[in-house]
Amino acid sequence: MKKTRIALIGCGNIGRFHLEHFKQMPEVELVGVCDLIIEKAEVFAKEMNCPAFKDYKEMLDAVSPEAVFIGIPPYCHGEIEFTLIERKIHMFVQKPVGLDRKLILDINDKIRESGIITASGLQLRYETTVPVLKDFASRHKIVSSSFVRIGRVPQIEWWRDRSKSGGQLVEQAIHQVDMMRYVLDDEAEEVFSFGSHDIIKDMPGFDVEDMSVSAIRFKKGTLATFTVGCYATGNEPSENKMIFGATDARADYFMLERLKVYGDKVEAQAENDSAEVVKGDGRIISSGNATIYQPSGDCGLVCDKTFIKAIQTGDPSIIKSPYEDAIKSVFLTLACNESMVTGKPVKVDLDF
Ligand SMILES: NC(=O)c1ccc[n+]([C@@H]2O[C@H](COP(=O)([O-])OP(=O)(O)OC[C@H]3O[C@@H](n4cnc5c(N)ncnc54)[C@H](O)[C@@H]3O)[C@@H](O)[C@H]2O)c1
Repeated sequence: MKKTRIALIGCGNIGRFHLEHFKQMPEVELVGVCDLIIEKAEVFAKEMNCPAFKDYKEMLDAVSPEAVFIGIPPYCHGEIEFTLIERKIHMFVQKPVGLDRKLILDINDKIRESGIITASGLQLRYETTVPVLKDFASRHKIVSSSFVRIGRVPQIEWWRDRSKSGGQLVEQAIHQVDMMRYVLDDEAEEVFSFGSHDIIKDMPGFDVEDMSVSAIRFKKGTLATFTVGCYATGNEPSENKMIFGATDARADYFMLERLKVYGDKVEAQAENDSAEVVKGDGRIISSGNATIYQPSGDCGLVCDKTFIKAIQTGDPSIIKSPYEDAIKSVFLTLACNESMVTGKPVKVDLDF
């Protein structure tokens, strides 16, 4: 199959993540990299033996990519997407795909008209334990669901500025928000959130919530909570866990680490109660009434490869998080942000 000509806009942290994947993707040819800080692009370019650009339009004119990966901060979205759509270039947009509802919807409308293929960086959907989790949720009525994501403030300047990052729920915990929507196969109806600005006091330029708690009602009836904090000063207070609770069973999902299912009949348990079984896409360890599934591989690589495969085969249905779906996770997190500010419950508007 002919290699797909791709380019990268944004040579920061996530740009590096994609670059390492491109090195493992014989199906693509990286024809250019671009960053406003040209020195960052030059480092990538040297490694990949391709040209570096400061201006993305110059790059598009010079190297004519078929697809572009966009890894820029949340507040920088807009012009790049409109330009790519106008030129009919397929695009992979990192999460959160934007912070402004109207801008996001305008981009989405243009995508619909153009028919380009899109994907977003919600790569947990491709994690190998997630089909097990989705299957679990489809066979049990999930009455309660929650996640806790506690960590430190990332060492990224724009992250601390709420107008640029959207805050921790929008920028970071959107992965868990998206997983909840995906696993429950449901949409949130209404949210009520509290945000704190009381824990981190002495960090210059810091104005995002240092902690927030949200209560969410999903359409099919699941009640959920999101607990998010960036107040940790070390690893000990950190936590990253999701719970999907049914009346007769429970699944705990630890991002990229393990899935632990309680009270659900699985093949591994039936065969041998203390078995450790290698099963296709990951290990299963069974003991007592809990079964632990361990993920395998790099879901980020699978996410990037799936986008390219969709382009090469002309089948966008294999993409688990196209732009049109990724924006629903943004809108849910933005509804929580609005509730934190207004102190009132907010309906999640997915009518578009
Ligand atoms: N999917 C994931 O797991 C994951 C992980 C990390 C970051 N991200 C997301 O990736 C995005 C970027 O985060 P980051 O940590 O890489 O940020 P970063 O600050 O390290 O890098 C962003 C880069 O984009 C460049 N840039 C901004 N506007 C540009 C433009 N118009 N043209 C060219 N370059 C431009 C900046 O100069 C910077 O080098 C964020 O939305 C973040 O949430 C996703």
